[in-house]
Amino acid sequence: MATIFSEESRTFSEYLLVPNLTTEANTPDMVDLSAPICKYMKGKEEPKLHINIPMVSAVMQSVSDSGMAIALARSGGISFIFQSQPIAEQCEMIKKVKKHKAGIVVSDYNVTPESTLARVVELRAEKGHGTAAVTSDGTANGKLLGLVTTRDYRVTRMSPDTKVKEFMTPIEKLITAPEGTTLKEANDIIWDSKVNQLPIVDDDGCLVGLVFRKDYETHKANPLELLDDEKKMMVGAGINTRDYQERVPALIEAGADVLCLDSSDGFSVWQEKALKWIKANYPDTPVGAGNVVDKEGFDYLVAAGADFIKIGIGGGSICITREQKGIGCGQASAVLAVAKARDEYFEKTGMYVPLCSDGGIVHDYHMTLALAMGADFLMLGRYFARFDESPTRKLIVNGGYVKEYWGEGSNRARNWQRYDDGGAGGKMAFEEGVDSYVPYAGKLKDSLDTSLAKIKATMCSCGSSSIEEFQNKARLVVVSSTSIVEGGAHDVIQKENDRVGR
Ligand code: IMP
Repeated sequence: MATIFSEESRTFSEYLLVPNLTTEANTPDMVDLSAPICKYMKGKEEPKLHINIPMVSAVMQSVSDSGMAIALARSGGISFIFQSQPIAEQCEMIKKVKKHKAGIVVSDYNVTPESTLARVVELRAEKGHGTAAVTSDGTANGKLLGLVTTRDYRVTRMSPDTKVKEFMTPIEKLITAPEGTTLKEANDIIWDSKVNQLPIVDDDGCLVGLVFRKDYETHKANPLELLDDEKKMMVGAGINTRDYQERVPALIEAGADVLCLDSSDGFSVWQEKALKWIKANYPDTPVGAGNVVDKEGFDYLVAAGADFIKIGIGGGSICITREQKGIGCGQASAVLAVAKARDEYFEKTGMYVPLCSDGGIVHDYHMTLALAMGADFLMLGRYFARFDESPTRKLIVNGGYVKEYWGEGSNRARNWQRYDDGGAGGKMAFEEGVDSYVPYAGKLKDSLDTSLAKIKATMCSCGSSSIEEFQNKARLVVVSSTSIVEGGAHDVIQKENDRVGR
């Protein structure tokens, strides 16, 4: 006979946090929101990989491309670039993020003295920035002969045939620094000599890389920026259980820092096989798995080698999986059940497996609740889709600005690998997601700062300065439907939307 669980499955909106004592130590500036994103022996070692804010962007076409990845890494989180695209295109996106780091950049815009202005202009449009290195052979590491910036030419006044050697700033007039110069020293030179970029050259005069003033300034404005050991931005990549033997090596080669299996239902032998293969061939690359909603799913994927576990079936804003297939679980109940399994596993083995709560976050306080319930970090789709930095079009609908947002299981995305049934593959028999609009919300950083401020404020109310402390101390109560009504503004005539930090 079928098993009927005794407890209902619940959503975040059905819970509230009961405050704990707030002390002098509990001020927002003291709250550390960093989170591990791969398993580690807690108490004995540090996690190999962590993020500086507990947020990652969803493995979705309408959310995570290189633009989103750069913006989110700058704020301390990480994006998982979508896998429902050809391997080469996904790798290009990873490479673009890796190149766009604060620090010493390998020059990607190079010409020779004999190149023409027309070529300079063409490459500028292609590369998206205005500083070209002039090298003897036109490569990134050729002998440096000069630089061309947008200040060196006027397209309207010069012939497209003009040779670079006629308008470049020659090496004799450039300030350069020798190979081995640290980033800090390079930045000091930039400041002292009032230049915008500093070429680093080796003993033979060959170009090693460039340091840009704007990168330094951006980094100062974003102290939580998520960088790897080489000061490149960190980026994740989605993978599937079909082509991982080709996709994973290519993504690692392109520079992906962490991988995540992208599936609506991860409790499958396909994920076990993929995890085992990746762990046998690339043991140093962290890989998350999921999605699951219970202990059985958690234990299975951890035994197969997963570094973090993603939780959530059917709760995504664009998701119709529950309606189509009748599977899933309220997101709050799923997080609580998997967190219990994770804590038991830690007690037994000493290994801490981070959890990611994926989907179903509507209000900022849902983020805080998910963390309190045991998630270490959150995956968000709708939230990030609303910002300038998401890859989709901004349109006017009914007089208001919106951004497009579509599910990976919609006909528009056709991500059949995510909804794989183990059959012949290549098609989706039915949709599990919708194509939609979300209200446009401006720049990512502005909304993110407000969301993080709310999380920190709640953690202070609960007497906590870290996510771990918060999880240990959190006290949650199930709310009745009438107390939910009491929680919003009620029995007043509300004015127009003029509240700060909505
Ligand atoms: P949201 O943050 O509530 O918008 O949910 C985003 C999450 O929904 C993603 O990270 C996926 O786990 C999930 N998802 C993405 N596309 C689909 C779909 O088409 N159907 C069902 N779930 C989806």
